[in-house]
Amino acid sequence: MMLKGLVLAGGEGTRLRPFTYSMPKHLIPLLGKAMIEYPICHLVDVGIKDIGIVVGYLGHLIKEYLGDGSRYGARFTYIRQERRLGIAHAIHISIANGFIEGPFVVYLGDNILAHGIEKYVESFITSEPDVYILLCKVKDPSRFGVAIIEDNKIVKLVEKPKQFLSDMAMIGIYFFRDPDLVEKAFSSLKLSWRGEYEITELIQWFIDHGYTVKYDIVTGWWKDVGTPESLLEALYLLLDNVQPRIKGKVEGEVQGRVIVEKGAVIEGKVYGPAYVGRDTYIAKNATIEHYVSVESRSKILSGSVTRSIILNNSTIDLNKARLVDSIIGNHCYVKAKRELYGAIRLAIGDYGILEL
Ligand code: DAU
Repeated sequence: MMLKGLVLAGGEGTRLRPFTYSMPKHLIPLLGKAMIEYPICHLVDVGIKDIGIVVGYLGHLIKEYLGDGSRYGARFTYIRQERRLGIAHAIHISIANGFIEGPFVVYLGDNILAHGIEKYVESFITSEPDVYILLCKVKDPSRFGVAIIEDNKIVKLVEKPKQFLSDMAMIGIYFFRDPDLVEKAFSSLKLSWRGEYEITELIQWFIDHGYTVKYDIVTGWWKDVGTPESLLEALYLLLDNVQPRIKGKVEGEVQGRVIVEKGAVIEGKVYGPAYVGRDTYIAKNATIEHYVSVESRSKILSGSVTRSIILNNSTIDLNKARLVDSIIGNHCYVKAKRELYGAIRLAIGDYGILEL
């Protein structure tokens, strides 16, 4: 069975402002890879090469960044969603414009799954259900679509339940066998209270009409990135799984699980888990302490950084202060102009300048 892939990257990412004023959240880098490259690589890894990418807000930047797919050994087709009318709507336009014409898998462009999707693709291909979804037990089900299960069968799917119904959240990966049935289901949908055609209601149609809706519970971690907190949590999870490798130049000290990319120069100290991206510079008076990612071409001139992400091309010069739980955008400049001690926490969008 040949599956096509559909990666959803519309939406404005309002909860990730100010970072998303200048770039779609899907292009935020995590360990040298844009967020959307995680789902794309998972699809390519299982041999899915024909991939549609649904874009909206700042979609041209996504297209510019990813290109035609040849860099990934894949073929990308961009599908423009003019209005953010829901996940079910994004799927519908991809069928209506002719991209999807057989079985397919939808992967939300802001979901990161620890171990890829190989076993789920296999399970879908061997059992051929009409719909196949993945669930994960969560602490805060009101943030997700949830599945109510009775006798090992899904009986109801509810988007962002206000009261507790189930702690089994729907992960943003959905498999469908027949696009004609999806279109039939879509034509029965109405906009929800939040103004979207909901994926939960689309799949509920299959349940209500007696089609087979299979599920599996994922093992290992999964994260959907929608807020600054979840961006940092995704970073911590990714860092927990890194295999150390040193490609740059270490003249200072590196301890623990650390990735040092090509062109990076470390004169100071780096304590893992940490990621030191391409062409970065960690100066003699700077310390990177656990759960930090310094993405490409950024410079840490002084001070220490903990549990934070510094995006591309930024400069941090903090004297003796500690930057904690922070997100620094691209092309930022943060400088302590006097002797400075203690912890500071920042969230600064692209091109921010802060002199302390
Ligand atoms: O992450 C899992 C959750 O994703 C599921 O549990 C929910 O059932 C599902 O509705 C979804 O919830 P969110 O409210 O978190 O979805 P969000 O608006 O963040 O959009 C998810 C992705 O889909 C994101 O990459 C943007 C893209 N998208 C979203 C909408 C609404 C589109 O491309 N077009 C759209 O119209």
